[in-house]
Amino acid sequence: MNRFKEIVRQWSVKNSRIRNLRALYLLLTGKAKPLGLSHIYSYQEEQAIGPLQREEALFLFALLRVVRPKLVVEFGFLRGDSALNFLAAIAPEGRLLSYDISDEAEHYAKLYFSDYGHFKFLKKSQTEFSPQDLDSQLVDFVFLDAAHDLELNQKTWQLLHPHLSEEAIVAIHDTGTWSRKHLGPLQNRHIAKENCTWISETELAHQPDERKFVNWIREKHPSFSTVNLHTGNTLRHGLTLIQKSRYLDV
Ligand SMILES: C[S@@+](CC[C@H](N)C(=O)[O-])C[C@H]1O[C@@H](n2cnc3c(N)ncnc32)[C@H](O)[C@@H]1O
Repeated sequence: MNRFKEIVRQWSVKNSRIRNLRALYLLLTGKAKPLGLSHIYSYQEEQAIGPLQREEALFLFALLRVVRPKLVVEFGFLRGDSALNFLAAIAPEGRLLSYDISDEAEHYAKLYFSDYGHFKFLKKSQTEFSPQDLDSQLVDFVFLDAAHDLELNQKTWQLLHPHLSEEAIVAIHDTGTWSRKHLGPLQNRHIAKENCTWISETELAHQPDERKFVNWIREKHPSFSTVNLHTGNTLRHGLTLIQKSRYLDV
């Protein structure tokens, strides 16, 4: 490495402003490609109720960039925050199918996404999933964030799981717990109207059926492994990732 480059590198490691300037220079001169992450800045973190949280979106964006799914299926569109995040992450040849039953979701899907060729909104319940919706393609990534109901999730799984590709990942939203110390007015309003369960003095399951669903998959489908992205160190809705467990060929 020449001396100048070494000094720039040294200072950009030491100082975040220099790092930002270096990134700007790389982008403006076309030496680096933008990551396509600008939507993330408008997402909420602690204040997100309904849509996924900003840092969860960041994680899922990175995950999709890493595994490059060809077909993503989402249950629960709402106003399209998770959908936009997936569309920003998937490669041009990838596509997203999004299911939601509400008129509001249908309205926003038309308003925001009518120009996206690789997106299709289906005004259908998660339990009305049909293999015909997939045009003979297997599903590489699923995001389940719809009814938050154990029975409906079980039915959806029965319909969907024969159509998962070998390395498909299923991400289930809202499987974490909220710590009492992080609760604010927004979460307290949710607790007052939803069916939440205190599982200890300090931890609340804000969507208990999603947790029961993960336990059900572990029991009934032991060939699948689960990873929980949960923490009590911040207010986190929580995600569980599910993938078929397998030995790696060597
Ligand atoms: C938590 S919101 C989804 C948030 C969205 N994934 C995001 O992160 O921006 C849940 C959505 O699921 C929809 N929903 C509820 N029951 C459903 C069902 N049985 N099938 C499909 N969608 C359903 C609701 O209309 C609502 O828009």
